[in-house]
Amino acid sequence: MKLITIIGARPQFIKAAPFSEEFRKNHEEILVHTGQHYDANMSDIFFDELGIPKPDYNLGVGSGSHGKQTASMLEGIEEILLKEKPDGLLVYGDTNSTLAGALAASKLHIPVFHVEAGLRSYNKLMPEEQNRILTDHISDMLLCPTQTAVDNLKKEGITYGVVNTGDIMYDTVLRNIGIANEKYSNGLWFDEIVSENGEISKISENGYYLATIHRAENTDNPEKLSNIFKAFSELNKPVLLPLHPRTEKLIENLEVDMKNIIIINPVGYLLMLYLTSNAYMVVTDSGGLQKEAYFLKTPCTTLRDQTEWIETLENSWNVLSKIDVKEIKSKVQRELTCLKHPQPKSFGEGNAALKICEAIVNGGKINE
Ligand code: UD1
Ligand code: UDP
Repeated sequence: MKLITIIGARPQFIKAAPFSEEFRKNHEEILVHTGQHYDANMSDIFFDELGIPKPDYNLGVGSGSHGKQTASMLEGIEEILLKEKPDGLLVYGDTNSTLAGALAASKLHIPVFHVEAGLRSYNKLMPEEQNRILTDHISDMLLCPTQTAVDNLKKEGITYGVVNTGDIMYDTVLRNIGIANEKYSNGLWFDEIVSENGEISKISENGYYLATIHRAENTDNPEKLSNIFKAFSELNKPVLLPLHPRTEKLIENLEVDMKNIIIINPVGYLLMLYLTSNAYMVVTDSGGLQKEAYFLKTPCTTLRDQTEWIETLENSWNVLSKIDVKEIKSKVQRELTCLKHPQPKSFGEGNAALKICEAIVNGGKINE
């Protein structure tokens, strides 16, 4: 089988790693990087660390408004599809690269396989929610990470071609946490970061909060962004913040108090896993990081009104917080002593890559 896979943004590289390895054992995959993320620490580092094959095409679309960026991807992907004539096209998640890939293939009647189908926040203002709904409704096979995702699709009348494969990010975590511990438990990470930020020594004494912020609903609203930083500056432990380039650009003009906040450049996946598993708590608006915190048994506070990953909320392992200084502080500093970790069975068994391959090759059938 000849498959074209579209990737473009950081979380998609992490999802692609186990699938590409599995699929290429018996089939042909052509990898197309849209170029949505392009900085070395947002793209190349993941290919190097995770052994992802070099993309066959890089469209180099870069940043832009939603319409411009998506249109440019659509044009480039269509050209490749016409030339390569694949048997199918695979997309991951909910970014503009996802929608562009699915739309280009659907119009050419090329079967679309959507990995991480069925996720919903039920907040249509989110670009990701728009991308997910549209992609799911034009996909031929909907590869769901959880039963919740399967049920969400059913509510929208989508039952044909729906398969629960488990979560592919869980595969990537299980394959790499041992490697990350081996690489960084000797303290090497400390040197990697210290060169960028002298404040790093603060975090060793009494633990740290690991934070990431990049969701448009938080970064594009100056009041919300300022509230997040104000809350971080008043927390009872230092906040280690690998800063997404979107957020870096937006805090330039903001009057923010950086006391207690240790800002570093985005880090590679292995270091991120290590930092997540050793943090006192993760504080984030990322989708993927909420799950990784859960898989690695680190409590989490999510700085959003909704989450697509409702399984992580069980036993208050993950807690949602509005973007209000007082609420963030009280949610993050909540009592954790009796916290019981829910078992991650709802995300499968860490063999989603294999199940996705089976489903794609066998018309939706997987070996139970
Ligand atoms: C995108 C996805 C989001 C996902 C996130 C993962 C969409 C609509 N959003 O958001 O769902 O959670 O990726 O990280 O697809 N930039 C750089 N260098 C880069 C990449 C981006 O400087 O390598 C800056 C640019 O100023 C750019 C901004 O970040 O305008 C936003 O990038 P973009 O890819 O449009 O959206 P993300 O916020 O990264
Ligand atoms: N991540 C990383 N380095 C960082 C920040 C995040 O490797 O500095 C990883 C994180 O561990 C997770 C993924 O990036 O695997 C999540 O991507 P992001 O938060 O950008 O997007 P989302 O999941 O919200 O779509």
